Amino acid sequence: MTRASPSILFVCLGNICRSPMAEGALRQAADAAGLALTIDSAGTSAYHIGSPPDGRAIRTAALHDANIAGLRGGQVADEDFERFDLIFALDEANLADLRERAPADCHAEIALLMDCVPGRAGEAVADPYYGGEEGFAETWTDVAAAAQALVKQFGG
Ligand code: 4NP
Repeated sequence: MTRASPSILFVCLGNICRSPMAEGALRQAADAAGLALTIDSAGTSAYHIGSPPDGRAIRTAALHDANIAGLRGGQVADEDFERFDLIFALDEANLADLRERAPADCHAEIALLMDCVPGRAGEAVADPYYGGEEGFAETWTDVAAAAQALVKQFGG
């Protein structure tokens, strides 16, 4: 993963908690580093198409000066495997869904997000949806660590 300015898609189940938070964290880190990246997020499910992020995700991001309130849920589309250079799954179930769905000649490199964080390869970003606000704080810590690692990797 050494492309100069890659396009990156974050994928979770609903696209209202973890992946929009990852999108917000990387936008913030890339902006701070003056790095131009193409960043988006999507869900493997169609549950929340058109919906804003979960209020807990919006509030947690805002605590870290990231505004994700304008994002809207979407589902992974076939063209995403061509359009993006990197597709990061937030957990193993998302990773398995993506791998199953990817075409044989897939352009995108598909990986687990925490694989990019030194010492945390193979770890999932836990689904905070059914828990309390503290789970979202943990999500932010994880996705912010990944965002920092990605910015470092891409020269920011
Ligand atoms: P996310 O969290 O995958 O991080 O967006 C979830 C959001 C919604 C649901 C599950 C997980 N749901 O079952 O509706």
